[in-house]
Amino acid sequence: MRNDISRLPIGVFDSGVGGLTVLRALRERLPAESFLYLGDTARLPYGSKSPQSVVRYALQCTRQLVERGVKMLVVACNTASAVALEPLAQAWPEVPVVGVVRPGARAGCAATRSGRIAVIATEGTVRGGAYQRAIQELCPEAHIVAKACPLFVALAEEGWTSGPVAEAVAREYLAPLFPASGAAGAPVPEEAPDTLVLGCTHFPLLAGAVARVVGPEVAVIDSARTAATEVADTLARTGLAAPQGTPAPTRFLATDDPERFARVGGLFLGRTLAREDVAVVDL
Ligand code: DGL
Repeated sequence: MRNDISRLPIGVFDSGVGGLTVLRALRERLPAESFLYLGDTARLPYGSKSPQSVVRYALQCTRQLVERGVKMLVVACNTASAVALEPLAQAWPEVPVVGVVRPGARAGCAATRSGRIAVIATEGTVRGGAYQRAIQELCPEAHIVAKACPLFVALAEEGWTSGPVAEAVAREYLAPLFPASGAAGAPVPEEAPDTLVLGCTHFPLLAGAVARVVGPEVAVIDSARTAATEVADTLARTGLAAPQGTPAPTRFLATDDPERFARVGGLFLGRTLAREDVAVVDL
C-alpha cells in the first residue's frame, strides 16, 4: 500500500508562478519524484490579503491537489506558509506538509556571521512576523530587520527582473538597510545585516538587482534549496520516497490564463513551458 502511495506526485502550490522557483529546486534535488503544481494566478497576490483569506485560499488549493492524488504537500508560497501550515495539517493530518518559511529561516541562520539578518517579503509575511519568529527560535541572539517589498512581485510577474527599473526599485527598498548602497542614513558596516533572506518565492528572480544594491559582502539567501532538502528528509522519514526510475512528467494547473502562466512561468522554472502544458482549474 505504502509503495503505491510513494508513486503519487508531490503536490506543490503557490499564489502564482513564483513557486516554480521552488519546484525547480525540488526537481533538481529529487529527480525520481513526479510533481503536480498549482498556481492560483486568478487570486494573486496573496501578499496583500488578510490572513483569513490566505488560509481559505490555501485550503482550497490543497483540496484540489489532494483530490487529484498527492502523497505530500509543499506550500511553495511564503505568505501561505506563514499562516496556513497549521490549518492544513489539521484538515489533512495524513498528508505531510512542508512550507518555505522555516527552511528560509534556517538557511539565513546558517549563513550569518554577525547575527544581523534582514528579511524581505510580502506585506502579509512581514506583518505576521512568521520569519522573525522562525529566525528567533533557531538563533535567539539574532538581530532581525524585516521589510515588505511588494513591487518585486509585480516586476517578477512582468519579467522585468533586471535593468534600470528593477535596480531602481531594489535601491529604493534596500538602500537604507545596507552601507554598500552609499545611501544617506544607511547603517555603518558593524550595524548592518550581513545576510539577506529572500522571503518570497518571486524574489530569487531579482537576486542580481538585489545583490548589486546590497554589495558582495552580504549573503543573499533563497530558501528553495533548503526547502528541497526538508522535503527529501520528510520523504525519507515517512517512507514516501518514490522508487528509482523515470518519473511522470510534471503537471501544471492554474486558476487563470494558461498562456500567461506558461510564458512567465518559464522564466521561473528555467525552461520553456507551453500553453498546452497548463490546465485551467476552478477552485
Ligand atoms: N508567492 C508569494 C510569497 O512567496 C508572493 C506573491 C504573492 O503575494 O502572492 O509570499
